[in-house]
Amino acid sequence: MFTNDTLENKSILVTGGGSGLGLAMSKRFAELGANVVVCGRTKQKLDKAKVELCAINPQCQAVELDVRDYEKVGQVLTKLDQEMGGINGLVNNAAGNFYCSSEDLSSNAFQTVVDIVLNGSFNCTQHFGKLAIAAKRPGVILNILTTYTPGGSPFVLPSACAKAGVYALTRSLAVEWAEYGIRLNAIAPGPIPTEGAWARLMPKQFEEMFKNGLPLKRFGTPEELANLASFLMSDMASYMNGECVTLDGAESLMSGMFHQLANTLPRKELKKVFSQMRPKK
Ligand code: COA
Repeated sequence: MFTNDTLENKSILVTGGGSGLGLAMSKRFAELGANVVVCGRTKQKLDKAKVELCAINPQCQAVELDVRDYEKVGQVLTKLDQEMGGINGLVNNAAGNFYCSSEDLSSNAFQTVVDIVLNGSFNCTQHFGKLAIAAKRPGVILNILTTYTPGGSPFVLPSACAKAGVYALTRSLAVEWAEYGIRLNAIAPGPIPTEGAWARLMPKQFEEMFKNGLPLKRFGTPEELANLASFLMSDMASYMNGECVTLDGAESLMSGMFHQLANTLPRKELKKVFSQMRPKK
């Protein structure tokens, strides 16, 4: 489906691109011909990411940036825009999350996650949009959400609230900025192991239980996310706007009164139970 010029002539900024899913997407974009800039807060991660990305495409860059800093985001994006002859893609991937019982959250803990996820996405999106609109240049924005975006989630309240806000941002601007040729979509990934996410959100003792509860009995991979992200960033998806694509192996469909049947007995035994329940003729 992809060729190595699928993202040619695209300059894409990936927030939180120094590691994990952000870096996996960035590498795939670079393989497909994009000039990628990753940004993040940790210089050490960025230096390592830059080496990996430049081995694919020497035009790639890495810059230190905290997406919470509205002014700094504006300065960095303006500079990159000039240097790269226009940024035409943005992936809002930077996130913060941790488990906490909501009654124990401090106000600063709530605010910190909302600042990174929601305000950070707004800061980058608005500066990206201003530059693109002023230059009369089309653009594409991809927001990384989660499967609990529509329904909320226990124990990650700040993240659930912030991601819902980013979903609203995606859909609102998909309409408002369509006339400028800027389209926005989102991906809601299910569980995909990365060092950062697993350290925060996957206690070792729960890992097998989580996995066995999934319809496909496995977690997703960063490469699977990167492929979908590449499609949405490419011109192949040029009529897709305001969508959120779920990528979770049907994890979020595991609800309703019969879904547990898919996970309890082996299929052979389940069929036996069904046949015993069938009324005799
Ligand atoms: N449980 C409860 N509160 C927590 C917490 C936890 N596990 N981790 C942080 N906090 C609180 C802190 O105590 C602090 O509140 P306080 O001032 O009232 O004590 C507040 O959150 C801010 O924490 P701090 O460490 O100062 O913020 P930071 O900006 O350095 O870090 C985080 C931001 C907390 C989101 C941090 O986890 C982070 O940097 N994450 C980035 C990577 C990430 O989370 N990716 C998502 C993977 S899925």
